Amino acid sequence: MERHIHFIGISGSLRKGSFNTQLLYNLPELLPENVTMEIISFADIPLYNADMDTPASKERPPAVAVFRNKLASCDALIIVSPEYNYSIPGGLKNAIDWASRGEDSPLLKKPVSLMGATPGLWGTVRMQLAFHAVFQFLNMKPVYKPEVLIAKAKDKFDEKGKLKDEQAKDIIRKNLDHLKQIVNQNEPHYST
Ligand SMILES: Cc1cc2nc3c(=O)[nH]c(=O)nc-3n(C[C@H](O)[C@H](O)[C@H](O)COP(=O)(O)O)c2cc1C
Repeated sequence: MERHIHFIGISGSLRKGSFNTQLLYNLPELLPENVTMEIISFADIPLYNADMDTPASKERPPAVAVFRNKLASCDALIIVSPEYNYSIPGGLKNAIDWASRGEDSPLLKKPVSLMGATPGLWGTVRMQLAFHAVFQFLNMKPVYKPEVLIAKAKDKFDEKGKLKDEQAKDIIRKNLDHLKQIVNQNEPHYST
């Protein structure tokens, strides 16, 4: 019997009307079989400070400990983010930095998928490229293809926030299917 797989998704944008958060909330309907998904936020995470970062997670700020425990409990991570100044948004990078430290980092070797939505055409491309250096350092297992970029995002969602671009949905389904495949090929049992 196929084992159950759990994804966690995070948006790189905190604003209420975020296209990226909207895209993230469309993903549960596009998941492969036997996969569930939970959405978490980095909104409460303080600025990284190594003085407050100790291997015993109970000594880390509570929001950081919760964030790290959530990541430890999933088989794969999905990041849906805009680009800020051609790179990774600071809040998102800060949360990733908090999760990245120590031999108990829940990001090490974690399968990961990256997506972006932009009101323009090329937004998120440079954020996606910038993330690959982070994935390399943490020995993460990214889905390389198909890449997911929802351009002209203002035209791609209906009034209820549903993604209405069928071609984009197909690309996302393929991407998430590859993420599931990476989980199945990866060293097993990331779930606690
Ligand atoms: C600080 C900041 C930097 C930005 N830098 C870029 C950029 O480098 N490239 C780009 O295409 N758009 C850039 N934008 C515009 C964002 O793509 C746009 O605001 C987008 O809607 C943000 O994503 P969201 O809708 O998920 O919040 C920037 C926006 C902000 C607030």
